Amino acid sequence: MSDRNTLAVRFLTSMAQALATMSLYAEGHPVRARAAVASFDTLRDLQGMDPRPSFSFLGSDVVYGQQAIRGLADWEWATRLANVGVQRLEFADIVEREAYVAFLEDVIARVSTFTAIAAANAPANLPLSRPTGPNPIRFGAIGVRGSNEQRPVEAVSVEDASLLDLNVEVDAIQWVHDEVIERDQIPLLEAESIVRSLSVAMHGDSQMLLPLLTLKEFDQYTTTHALNVSVLSMGLAEFMGLSPREVRAYGVAGMLHDLGKVRVPKDILTKPGKLTPEEWALMRSHTVEGAKLILQSDQNLDVAALVAFEHHIMINGGGYPDRHFRCDCHRASTLVHVCDVYDALRTKRPYRDAWEPAATLAYIEKGIGTEFDSDVGRAFIAMMAKWEPRLAVADLSRTAA
Ligand SMILES: [Fe+2]
Ligand SMILES: [Fe+2]
Repeated sequence: MSDRNTLAVRFLTSMAQALATMSLYAEGHPVRARAAVASFDTLRDLQGMDPRPSFSFLGSDVVYGQQAIRGLADWEWATRLANVGVQRLEFADIVEREAYVAFLEDVIARVSTFTAIAAANAPANLPLSRPTGPNPIRFGAIGVRGSNEQRPVEAVSVEDASLLDLNVEVDAIQWVHDEVIERDQIPLLEAESIVRSLSVAMHGDSQMLLPLLTLKEFDQYTTTHALNVSVLSMGLAEFMGLSPREVRAYGVAGMLHDLGKVRVPKDILTKPGKLTPEEWALMRSHTVEGAKLILQSDQNLDVAALVAFEHHIMINGGGYPDRHFRCDCHRASTLVHVCDVYDALRTKRPYRDAWEPAATLAYIEKGIGTEFDSDVGRAFIAMMAKWEPRLAVADLSRTAA
């Protein structure tokens, strides 16, 4: 374990101790202050080596920067913090002691409110606060639910599937995109958590469910589309009998397939009319840009990088990006390609209406052998025949940020 990681573990341990102590003793008790100061000292040590440390608390997992902290796997505060809406904790600058103590007090207040709410068996709906102004401590939700958490989706039947709430996952995908724009890095472990969370939603009741979103606002297209392609890719991979590991990898690849669009100007992405040749070239570059972004974030994401590069390549060699040689695409790319086309056609765009399901499936059927891989295309149609009645179309009840 590197020194930085050791200091990070020491800091988190001391923060947990401070929070535990502060929740036991009344305000003003000297033990409270001592625990807070001891914890602050470990933060100062950590910031000596890493001035801007950031943490994610996802169910029982803790992520420091881009790495999962293994030594803290059973650290019960990860779940507790996530429960009260602190899934992300960032120190944007060197922190003063007063600001840190105030942060601890805030968390304690949330934990006690949450405990009271849980005791009363009422739904916990705690307001989130991201301090405004110059406070260097930023914290809040990234919207990933732990897979062992009781999820509302378990109560959803086909009849009332519109109750399905995927707002948290949409927010989380939005957050991943924002992080990529801001830091040029994909928060990989968090992205994998979103996929796990979606997988739980798909298997929430005894039968398979495809929780898809309908687009309400055009500016939500990127996140809605990423979520839907991830869900469809996982569904299709599972339908085709791939291993759970591959299913999750395809889910991540589906979610990140259009990531390169963060590099394409927004007015081109949302242009209602025909694109000029220059604009079209920029649009097509999202494949190469996406693959680059993914590879520079994590070499282990080679399948996702390939999918980003290949998802517009047709089985007959057409499509883009241009290649100097003909090659067989990875199965994940041919699979995401079908899911991508299905969701894109089913969605209303600024320049056309949404296609009906039957017309969309007919289009896919017609493209088998030319645009789409035969096995994958047929499997997609068979999957929809089997699972489409269980397509849970969830609405976003509010506009995402
Ligand atoms: Fe694309
Ligand atoms: Fe796409």
